[in-house]
Amino acid sequence: MVRIAPSLLAADFGNLAAAVEEVGSEADWLHLDVMDGHFVPNLTIGPPVVASLRRHSSLFFDCHLMMTNPGPYLAAFRDAGADGCTVHVEVGDTAALIAQMRSLGLRVGLAANPDTPFDSLVPFLGDVDLLLCMTVFPGFGGQSFMVEVMDKVRAARNELDRRSLDVEIEVDGGIDEETVPVAAGAGADVFVAGTAVFGADAPREAVKRLRAAAVAVRRG
Ligand code: DX5
Ligand code: ZN
Repeated sequence: MVRIAPSLLAADFGNLAAAVEEVGSEADWLHLDVMDGHFVPNLTIGPPVVASLRRHSSLFFDCHLMMTNPGPYLAAFRDAGADGCTVHVEVGDTAALIAQMRSLGLRVGLAANPDTPFDSLVPFLGDVDLLLCMTVFPGFGGQSFMVEVMDKVRAARNELDRRSLDVEIEVDGGIDEETVPVAAGAGADVFVAGTAVFGADAPREAVKRLRAAAVAVRRG
């Protein structure tokens, strides 16, 4: 199943509710980028903003935690209205974080930076719902899609299929109408797009075009 997840990182932070309403009827998920100023050199939002957005949307909230130490905050994100949380494998303590997310009733995601090998994810494939293959180095929107990450997406898709595991593959960074087909062809299911959605004149139409581009490949 193809899902389009607009990233609010590229929206107007002074008017997030309007951004959510703009894409609400077309998007599958909302992607919320949480940055701690430590794991990545940028700061964004935390649970209070997630809680405020929750009042404006019934969409699935896909919280991407770019945090060195997400554990102490997982319950707060869940209470704020997160549906799924994704932690980075690079921060370690992965098995415990997965168990904690599971016990909180969160959908469980595990992310890998572009230079983190697929082997790092393999021990956890049976325990997660989502693998996030970063197609840029995290921290900022508007960067260029790294096509070399498609080797990891293909490896993940092959291994998940071989083991009949029901795990979605998400790509995040530089996703637009030109790169969606590349990622979809490699086996991605969930497409995060910030600039391509909120940088467009008509964000809702942009979501539609991204979906059409993905569906064309997945059916082909
Ligand atoms: C990057 C974030 C992405 C970002 C993508 O650190 O994880 O979600 O918003 O932005 P674009 O689509 O502009 O590359
Ligand atoms: Zn993200």
